[in-house]
Amino acid sequence: MNTDEKTAAELLSGDVRQATEDIAAADLSSEEACETFRVRFLGQRSGIVTGLFKRMKKLPQEARPAAGKSLNALRKLATDRLKAGRKALKAAPKLAEVDLTLPGRRAVPAGSVHPITQTLADITGIFRRMGFTVADGPEIEDDWHNFTALNFPPDHPARDMQDTLFLEAPESSSGGIMLRTHTSPVQIRAMAAGNPPFRLIAPGRVYRNETITYKSYCLFHQVEGLVVDEGVTMADLKHVLFTFARAYFSEDVRLRFRPSFFPFTEPSAELDIWWDLPEKPGEGRWMEILGSGMVDPNVLDAVGIDSEKYTGYAFGMGVERPAMLQYGIEDIRLFYENDVRFLAQF
Ligand code: PHE
Repeated sequence: MNTDEKTAAELLSGDVRQATEDIAAADLSSEEACETFRVRFLGQRSGIVTGLFKRMKKLPQEARPAAGKSLNALRKLATDRLKAGRKALKAAPKLAEVDLTLPGRRAVPAGSVHPITQTLADITGIFRRMGFTVADGPEIEDDWHNFTALNFPPDHPARDMQDTLFLEAPESSSGGIMLRTHTSPVQIRAMAAGNPPFRLIAPGRVYRNETITYKSYCLFHQVEGLVVDEGVTMADLKHVLFTFARAYFSEDVRLRFRPSFFPFTEPSAELDIWWDLPEKPGEGRWMEILGSGMVDPNVLDAVGIDSEKYTGYAFGMGVERPAMLQYGIEDIRLFYENDVRFLAQF
């Protein structure tokens, strides 16, 4: 071989090396890319591999076998890559075949809001829109906040062991401590800590030593309301309660404001709503949803508010009852069992 012939053989093997790299790096991720690859490397007229074969045939006799061998390997590499690329494309689902509107798989099932939490939020939302703020108090109370300041006489039956869950008082404390039996002590705490005017609600848990049945439980929720200012009247109370009931139940709900008694309000009234029985069309019954009244002057005096200058009203409603009516729940215990088959329905 002369020098030119040697150089031609070396150039060819350099180009084979370059083509090997290009084939390995080429894009085969789509039908179009595969076709571009085929034309670029294996095309009959101007494909790179085809061109290299033509150059090989011009080499001197003794250089051809080695070059031919490496070119055959190069062509096999290109055809194999092309075959593999097309096969992978066929196996992968085409975007058009996937229903993109299908929901994804949820690895962790989403939780939902507990119906009591939802009902509390619905009730407080209505009062917030009427200008009430939200107050809070402890679930463990003393006798003064839970009873005495609320004008319960010392021998009142509600203090009885039957209703109240008393706690063992630490040595240092004077008087009994207990789980609060209603949210009314929050009225006392709010009034003792500030000055009128007050316009607040206090949602929270309360506890009673009741026999547990489908309709009563040892723990339940109330929303307390308190408004104290100059010139507050029973008409204001009735207006706020009726506005609430129409917003919560329905615009045309039938309401009954009925005289009642509570130690801490005078006069007192209960609010009933008419509830149609879905199982007996045309029939229904009155259901009590809250207690209320004008704050007794003794209560204002107990927290140092001038009962000659200020008047107020208060109300307290249960949360479980409206939640049971709204969601058609017939057993109060379901709220507290945390059975996911129940909870997942909300
Ligand atoms: N605390 C009363 C109860 O638990 C409800 C109530 C609150 C009544 C405020 C009047 C005023 O039954």
